[in-house]
Amino acid sequence: PVVHWFPGHMAKATRMIKEYVKKVDVVIELLDARIPRSSANPVISEVVGEKPHIIVLNKADLADPKETKAWTEYFTTQGMTVLAIDSKSGKGNKQLVKAVERLSQPIIDKWLKKGIRSRSVRTIILGIPNVGKSTLINKLAGAAATRTADKPGHTRGQQWVKIGKNLELLDTPGVLWPKLEDQRAAARLAMTGAISDDVYDLESVMKQLLRQVKENNPNLLVERYKLKPEELDDMEQLLESIGRRRGCLVSGGVVDLDKARRIVLADYRNQKLGNLTLDGVDEEPVIIEDTIEY
Ligand code: G4P
Repeated sequence: PVVHWFPGHMAKATRMIKEYVKKVDVVIELLDARIPRSSANPVISEVVGEKPHIIVLNKADLADPKETKAWTEYFTTQGMTVLAIDSKSGKGNKQLVKAVERLSQPIIDKWLKKGIRSRSVRTIILGIPNVGKSTLINKLAGAAATRTADKPGHTRGQQWVKIGKNLELLDTPGVLWPKLEDQRAAARLAMTGAISDDVYDLESVMKQLLRQVKENNPNLLVERYKLKPEELDDMEQLLESIGRRRGCLVSGGVVDLDKARRIVLADYRNQKLGNLTLDGVDEEPVIIEDTIEY
């Protein structure tokens, strides 16, 4: 397989997240805007159940705006509430609070109808590692982030942070596991840095990334690595050419391909190869399976 990683104990993880979800009224599911399909948890609908649920495409600053629009339309057609944000800069965070407040209005109305004294609506952020959960929590909590639990003499624990007029956020995110049984998704998770660099096969991941960059914007590759257009024709040669231009040479003038792969990967992650969305909305959402052990 592309990715060698054994998450284990998934049933236990599902149970734990379900316990978290029980405590809230609305669920915020964070996805990476570059990989909205690959960054989704395989059992998210089971975990969320019937709770109102908003999909947030985070890191929209790193994705292709056209693709983000297409993904937003896709989720909307599926009947989902969806919003693209950039939690690092805070762009879209206000709209997120508003959207969650809108989603929770029917709940408040129900409470009022039943004569229940309304309390704050509660929400939680769920998502796979590295999707930006902590960044978003910290931004939303803002000044309210001075938590009693951080003070000496208090045990650190979960807390509700007020993020809207009638809205509280659990300051601990729900960590979901990524879709590693789908090898195409796993490779894309690796490209974006969602899974640790030492658990996947760099060669096959980079083969896929280079192909996608080349298909999306060959000119960027040509400019970035000062290539001749014909050097793009052969995928085997392409990496070697890049390595040569970048001086990734070992003795005898042989190109250190692994070094070249790392350079291209870093360039993708640092926006040097454009804002490339890796998951296509019209792509077949097949699961490319490989043997994986849990
Ligand atoms: P997690 O809790 O879901 O595991 O994710 P976390 O907030 O730790 O964020 C993971 C990385 O993603 C961090 O980068 C964070 O800054 C970055 N990030 C989060 N949201 C956004 C976003 O909307 N846009 C962009 N461009 N980046 C985002 P890092 O390199 O680990 O840390 P740092 O160097 O940025 O501090």
